[in-house]
Amino acid sequence: MSVHSEIKRITVPEIRAHKNASPVVVLTCYHAHTARLLDQHVDIMLVGDSLGMVMHGLENTLGVTLDMMITHGKAVMRGSNRALVAVDMPFGTYEESPAIAFRNAARIIQETGATAVKLEGGSRMAETIHYLSQRGIPVMAHIGLTPQMVNVRGGFHTTGRTEAEWPALLADAKAVDQAGAFAVVLEGMAEPLAARITTEIAIPTIGIGASPFCDGQVLVIDDVLGLFSDFTPKFVKRYANLAGAVSEAAATYAAEVRSRAFPAPEHCFGVAKPKA
Ligand code: KIV
Repeated sequence: MSVHSEIKRITVPEIRAHKNASPVVVLTCYHAHTARLLDQHVDIMLVGDSLGMVMHGLENTLGVTLDMMITHGKAVMRGSNRALVAVDMPFGTYEESPAIAFRNAARIIQETGATAVKLEGGSRMAETIHYLSQRGIPVMAHIGLTPQMVNVRGGFHTTGRTEAEWPALLADAKAVDQAGAFAVVLEGMAEPLAARITTEIAIPTIGIGASPFCDGQVLVIDDVLGLFSDFTPKFVKRYANLAGAVSEAAATYAAEVRSRAFPAPEHCFGVAKPKA
């Protein structure tokens, strides 16, 4: 039996090969039609648990479930055929033990068809990262500001702003590298520390609110598109104002409906002529 697929997705070794080469382009993605639009432009589409806030109106990521991640992961896979798709492991599905993490990560990989998972934590998750990657599940790690720790930290705080914090963060980066992660997200981290970590580990660093010297960058797609305006972190750059465009389109539609200008004759069905 042979299996051929016309377009081969970007692979984990190809992402690793970006180390000290061209930057890795990453955006979050949550649904099929956006995936179709992003696929040609990015190397990795991350089905981030930020979807809890962005798509479902939750206050933070803690309420996101494995089933939610799988549903959105499937949609992104259906809409794409080129970018590597990585799916976040949500809070409560991987911290308890490597074996439980494997069972839940395997569900993500089997049910979505995605290539990899991402999980939060440095040294404390090293054993789990090793366990998963040794058993066929590529892992992207995530250190620095880890949003699933919001209740322990009392908010979303930038890390590495004092040099006293650096040794622990450097140790986290080295631990996930040695454990077998294929890349690591550095979120909300003082720029010089993120730049130093990038030079000191062998895997690509993907920055978000970190440093232009990371091996790649990730942003939340709705922030990039200017769709999500509840809170805009300092590091976000908007590349479009879709919130304005959506609101304007909805207002124009509402005005046309109310004045009976829609549907216009060209949008209406006539009566079919009987066949002779
Ligand atoms: O959940 C998410 O979208 C993320 C990225 C912002 C890194 O973890």
